[in-house]
Amino acid sequence: MQVPNFLIMLGNRRNLIFRVSIVFNIAVLLYAAMHYSGNSAPGVDWVPITSEGLERTAELRYLKEDVRNETMVRFAEFGPRVAESTSQKVVPSTMSTVKKTVSSTASDVDKKISAAPSEVNIVNETLDVYDESVLSETTLTLLRQLLGCNDKDFLPETLQRGEFWVLKNYVRANHGAIACHESITYTTHGGFEFLDNLLPLVERWMAPVSLAIHAPGSDMMPTVNSIRYLRDCVGNDLILQYVTFHIFFSNKHIPSTIPVPEDFLKTSYNCSEPPPYIVNSSSTYKQQKNLLYPINVGRNIARGSALTHFVLPSDIELYPSPDLVPKFLNMIARNEAPLSTSSKPRVFPISIFEIAKNQNAPTTKSELQVMLRNKTAIPFHKYVCPTCHNIPHGKEWMTTLEGNQMEVFHVGKRQGKFVHWEPIFIGTNQDPFYDERLSWEGKQDKMTQGYVLCVKDYEFMILNNAFLVHKPGIKYYTKNVKRDKIGSRQSAYVRNVIHPELKKLYGVKSGCVL
Ligand SMILES: *[C@@H]1O[C@H](CO)[C@@H](O)[C@H](O)[C@H]1NC(C)=O
Ligand SMILES: *[C@@H]1O[C@H](CO)[C@@H](O)[C@H](O)[C@H]1NC(C)=O
Ligand SMILES: *[C@@H]1O[C@H](CO)[C@@H](O)[C@H](O)[C@H]1NC(C)=O
Ligand SMILES: *[C@@H]1O[C@H](CO)[C@@H](O)[C@H](O)[C@H]1NC(C)=O
Ligand SMILES: *[C@@H]1O[C@H](CO)[C@@H](O)[C@H](O)[C@H]1NC(C)=O
Repeated sequence: MQVPNFLIMLGNRRNLIFRVSIVFNIAVLLYAAMHYSGNSAPGVDWVPITSEGLERTAELRYLKEDVRNETMVRFAEFGPRVAESTSQKVVPSTMSTVKKTVSSTASDVDKKISAAPSEVNIVNETLDVYDESVLSETTLTLLRQLLGCNDKDFLPETLQRGEFWVLKNYVRANHGAIACHESITYTTHGGFEFLDNLLPLVERWMAPVSLAIHAPGSDMMPTVNSIRYLRDCVGNDLILQYVTFHIFFSNKHIPSTIPVPEDFLKTSYNCSEPPPYIVNSSSTYKQQKNLLYPINVGRNIARGSALTHFVLPSDIELYPSPDLVPKFLNMIARNEAPLSTSSKPRVFPISIFEIAKNQNAPTTKSELQVMLRNKTAIPFHKYVCPTCHNIPHGKEWMTTLEGNQMEVFHVGKRQGKFVHWEPIFIGTNQDPFYDERLSWEGKQDKMTQGYVLCVKDYEFMILNNAFLVHKPGIKYYTKNVKRDKIGSRQSAYVRNVIHPELKKLYGVKSGCVL
């Protein structure tokens, strides 16, 4: 079986990061010592007298003169603005390193830290990427400098979230610890009956997935069996390597037993059994008990549990275009305009399409364009709600040829014609979360987040080559009286309760509506 690229790269990187961190610590210690002795003049030569001194000194000098200078240039235009700003101000998430320079007393040491040393020779400011679908060590070094994110631990926890119990990291992916800058997590949610989507999704994503499963009452057993089946029986170990499962259920619907992962993961699943997630969806406990689906609880659990700085909160039936992760991260590392020139908070929307039932999801934008021309692909929800997923410059996006690297295609705002836009985007955990009082049945469950993004003046940096494809099958509008009734109740609640709250918390901005 082929070991995923990502894991090989991870191994090499771990080494590099370890070595880098040794150099790092020494640099910080020396710097701190220098401050202590009152000698803080920059540029003073300080030569550690050790036998390994030579090599390290060379690296330190390199760090001090070139990389630090380069980093200062790279961030020069944000430096002053950030320094003036209060802690309240939103700093674009891809620039979080700059925050380290805000503290004045420790600023020299901190600059030292943000100018991450490395064995990679960054002679030129332009990052030359030979293969956009690979993350080189240069790219990773730049990302680490640029993002300045904190790595998270990866332990199972039992938590409460309002009326919901959450088994966070219930079954963890085998990828082990992941540094926050080195990948992107696809975060999603669902009932076990949606797990047929997981394999096609992971095969295209090839990076960590954080999945929150709603498993009330007797839905728990088929959920556990589905997890086991997907890890053991689907013919490759991508789900085992990449997917971390969280479970949640209301305290009014606690499963009669909660299997212990350490026990059930000891033996492998009987793969002659049919996939436990292939069921008539009206037979689930959730449907039998007529429960609403707490979609935003699932979204928030999955997103908040991600180990990486960047996240793609999405719906499990939306399959990403292949190589999205390395291509996106190479773009971030290049840090060209508008990434480098805008200081507004930003997210990166991804265009969404539906394809006919008998078709395979396209793997490149060029292939998608052929399918759009012969009508086997259409813009998402074209026949359900044509305006809901319209994106700024959407027609132009569809006709623009696939570029050879990931770029920002257009910077849009959630205003004017796009005032109700509910895009799916790559963002970070600094973006507003989703209101957990809203249900999927009530519709428009992402509207409140969209409103906050608008008030905070987010920029929507639409990606040129990236796209999401819905599980094959084109959807048409069908009237659902029951859901419409729940929907109108939910919109009244948003209008009368949530909107006034958000106005108090975030203020108002003309052009932003809920
Ligand atoms: C940083 O670069 C400037 C020119 O941009 C140069 O004058 C200065 O000496 C450099 N500083 C260090 C510490 O290398
Ligand atoms: C950096 O790269 C650019 C374009 O590739 C080139 O024109 C420039 O001379 C390089 N600068 C240095 C210092 O190598
Ligand atoms: C595995 O499942 C198949 C089909 O249900 C059954 O016939 C077989 O006996 C099971 N094997 C074991 C070892 O339980
Ligand atoms: C699912 O079950 C319901 C009732 O239990 C039934 O009415 C429906 O036809 C079934 N759907 C399918 C696709 O079998
Ligand atoms: C449309 O294009 C796709 C991709 O090339 C192809 O698989 C499909 O057969 C085509 N369908 C029709 C109806 O031409």
